[in-house]
Order: sequence, then C-alpha cells, then structure tokens
Amino acid sequence: MAQGNSGRNPRGGFRSSSRSHQSRPAKTGGGNGGRQRKQGNHTVSVDPARQVALEVLTQVSQRGAYANLVLPQLLRKRKISGRDAAFATELTYGTLRAQGLADAILNEVSDRPVDRMDPAVLDILRLGVYQLLRTRVGVHAAVDTSVASCRTVGQGSATGFVNAILRKVSHRDEQQWVDIVAPDRTVDPVGYVATKFCHPRWIAEAFAQALGAQAGELADALAADDARPKVHLAARPGEISAEELALITGGQEGSYSPYAVYLDSGDPGDLDVVRQHMAAVQDEGSQLIARATCTAATEGADNGRWLDLCAGPGGKAAMMGALAGIDGAHVDAVEVSDTRAELVRNATSGLPVTVHIGDGRDPGLDGGYDRVLVDAPCSGLGALRRRPEARWRKQPSDLVGLTTLQSELLASAVQLTRPGGVIVYSTCSPHLRETRAIVDKAVRSFGLVELAAEELVAPMSDTGTEQSVQMWPHRHGTDAMFFAVLRVPTDRA
Ligand SMILES: C[S@@+](CC[C@H](N)C(=O)[O-])C[C@H]1O[C@@H](n2cnc3c(N)ncnc32)[C@H](O)[C@@H]1O
Repeated sequence: MAQGNSGRNPRGGFRSSSRSHQSRPAKTGGGNGGRQRKQGNHTVSVDPARQVALEVLTQVSQRGAYANLVLPQLLRKRKISGRDAAFATELTYGTLRAQGLADAILNEVSDRPVDRMDPAVLDILRLGVYQLLRTRVGVHAAVDTSVASCRTVGQGSATGFVNAILRKVSHRDEQQWVDIVAPDRTVDPVGYVATKFCHPRWIAEAFAQALGAQAGELADALAADDARPKVHLAARPGEISAEELALITGGQEGSYSPYAVYLDSGDPGDLDVVRQHMAAVQDEGSQLIARATCTAATEGADNGRWLDLCAGPGGKAAMMGALAGIDGAHVDAVEVSDTRAELVRNATSGLPVTVHIGDGRDPGLDGGYDRVLVDAPCSGLGALRRRPEARWRKQPSDLVGLTTLQSELLASAVQLTRPGGVIVYSTCSPHLRETRAIVDKAVRSFGLVELAAEELVAPMSDTGTEQSVQMWPHRHGTDAMFFAVLRVPTDRA
C-alpha cells in the first residue's frame, strides 16, 4: 500500500469555515513510489495519487485529453487501486469541475493572471486550491505537496510562488472566497450561482431558461451538476433483470427505468456482467428514451421496422435491439463515423440490429419505418457531470452548426417514417435551442402531431410543462436528457 501525506479523505461535502489541520507528518524516504522534496529538516513526498491527478490535469489542459479516458489508463499502468485510486479520481475530477472558481480565486490573489501563468504551475495551483477548499486535506499537506510537485515537473523556480499563493488561499474557506469573487447575488443571481457551483455563466443561463418558471431551482440544478454522479447500469432486457443485476453488483435498483441499477462508485468496465454484454453502463435517462422509442403508440400496426438514425456509440441501439428481439422487430442503426459505427457493432452484437455507416440526412435506406430515434448530436450540456472538463471547453458558438444539423436529421427522420409511425427526438442537452426550438420548427414544417411523453417514463413526473420530457439531475438523478415524441400524420401525401 502506498504511503505518504496524501490526506486521503475524499470530499464528504463542502468544507466548513473551521479549518481542520489534518496533515500527517511528512514521510521521510521512499518506498511509496512518490517523488520527494527536501523541506527544512524533513522530506515531503508527492504520493502516487497526486502524481497521477496532476498528470491527467496536464494532459487535459495541454493536450486536449479527456480525463475519463486518461485516468483509468494511468491508474492501471501505475497499479494504483482501492483508496488511492479513489483519492486520485476525486482530485482529478474535482479539480477539473472547480476550475472556473479556482481560476477566479487565483486571479484575486496573484499579481500574475492565470492566462499568463506557466501551464504546469497553473495545474499545480488548481489542484492545490481544490484540496484546500473542497476536501478535508489539511493545509500543510495541500501546500507542501503542491510545492513538491513543482520540482517533479521541472518547475523548481516556482516553489516560492506556489507556496505564497496557496497560503493566501488557505486563509479563507470556499464560501468566503465565493463571496469575494462572485457577482453580488442580489444584483446578478445567475452569475452568483454560476460562480458558486463552478459553471460558465452562459451554461447557467441556458439551464435557467430551460427551467423556465422553475428557475428558482437553478442553484439546485447546478449543485447536482457539480457533484459526483452515481454509475448507472442497464440490465439487458431478456437477459437479466434489474433485481438480479442489483444482487450481483451490490447496487440498488433504479427509480424509473425497469432496467436500471445504481452503483455508488467503482469501475463498471471491470464487471463480468458488463463484459458479457448482459448489462451496460448507461444513464437511466438514456434507457428511458430508448424504451420510449419502442413503446410510443403508433397509429396502425407496428410492422417491426425500427431505425436509430444517430447510433454511435450504441447505448440506445443496444437497448432498442434487445427490446426488438423480444418483440420480433429489427433495428437499422445509422452512424456517420466509422470508429463509432464499430462501437455500435460491438454494443449490439448478437441482437437483431444492422449497422450502417452513413449520414442520417441521406442514409440510403428505404423509408416506411414504424419507429425512428433521432438521438441528435448536441452540445452535451446535460451530461456535464459525467465529463468534468467539458463545461470549460464548450462555447455558445458550438450550437450554431449543431442546431442546423439537428433540424436536418429530424427532417430526414420524417421522410423515413411511415404515416402513423413515431419519431423520438432526443438530446443530452436541456438547451432550448437544441430542444423545443427544433421540435416546434419540425411540428410546424411537417404537420407532426406531438404526443404526451411523460406517460412513457412513468413513474417519473415533474418533467416540465410541455408535451416533451426534460429530465434533471437534481430532480430525477439522471443526466439532463430531453425527448419529444412526434407522430407522422396518417394523411401525409
Ligand atoms: C448523441 S450521439 C448518439 C448516442 C447514441 N444514440 C447512444 O445512445 O449511444 C450522436 C451520434 O450521432 C453521430 N452523428 C453526427 N452526425 C451524424 C449524421 N449526420 N448522421 C448520422 N450520425 C451522425 C455522432 O457521431 C454521434 O455518434
């Protein structure tokens, strides 16, 4: 077991204003794989968990990597597991989520703004600020390991700077810093909660617009989006029940999807039941949307011709395929990217699913489908809690091309669906420009009939005031998924 002053106390809620100086005395000598720095008459180690966290932060900030891909690889390579792996994960994801708040604080205490700091030093400072404000790691452990990290990354000349900055940060707790760096909550309530719960302002504004009359819930919505989500598994229909899956995994059966099981943590890819395709990692909201596509009421008999127009990486196609197997139906799954089409093939192997590589706007398939899912490429603002760095990378300008593509894909779905057939349009984004605006335009242009969607996800309720369903992490524990159910009129020419 690795040792060192890791202060392994993954966050159990925000820290209170009273400081708990829990840093352990620094260890002398090696034996823990940690790199060391002499300080006074003792040696400070950088434990393996912090080393890994810092390496992932560097790859994310300097090479555009995705933390959820890089971190598990590094943990495996370094043979870090158990509590150390949990600590590394907490540090990495927590620091990435809190980046906007950390940068605002650093700009407050440093003469040099963050955009003029050395990127490696900035990553060390962000990791240090996260530990100081959002974990129970003691001040000494947080500061000393940050200073020691400077040397491990060849930034020995920055030790004094890092020490001074982090000591200044440690003089206040998180709420006190929020009160200093956030806009005045009475003048700019959205700006205030955006800063407090670490979201770019434009995303907080988009959430507030989507919440509409319930915008008073914005703080709850952002807080839930800023917390570590549970892992959701989907039991494959016809293979295993949610009850059995919960027993095998030690998880808890879901609240809404009959296939869902929640796990508190862990690497679900390690589970045999997942490797054997009897279960998959899939947000409960996605499970419900795939199921709604298969169960929405068509007019006229369902002839078992189902289509998934944007299928990669294949989560919903696999759920639809399993249900199609039970109902004697067949799914065509279209995906534009070769690599992602391969993922769909893998996810749906053994199921009545045919994968087609092509553009959903003109897939070259015969029309007349009974059911079509358009799970459109979108900004992904509804799944930010599962991709910790994503919120700082996305830009409002991303929406311009996406909304055009979304409308074109939905128009193509209308042409591919038979009169009386149903289309489910879904996004993992609550942004109104990607959700209601696209649906309203299609309803107007093609004379579609919008059906009540909430009844398809019962017992889920509180899904918004429209016919469509908007799910929320703070209300339902799912990602902020949206879907609408549209029927093609029977009198279409
Ligand atoms: C939101 S993801 C779909 C997720 C998938 N339904 C699932 O549950 O696993 C959107 C997918 O659409 C694909 N895509 C983007 N443009 C497309 C197009 N013009 N035609 C078909 N697929 C497209 C993307 O590559 C991406 O895999």
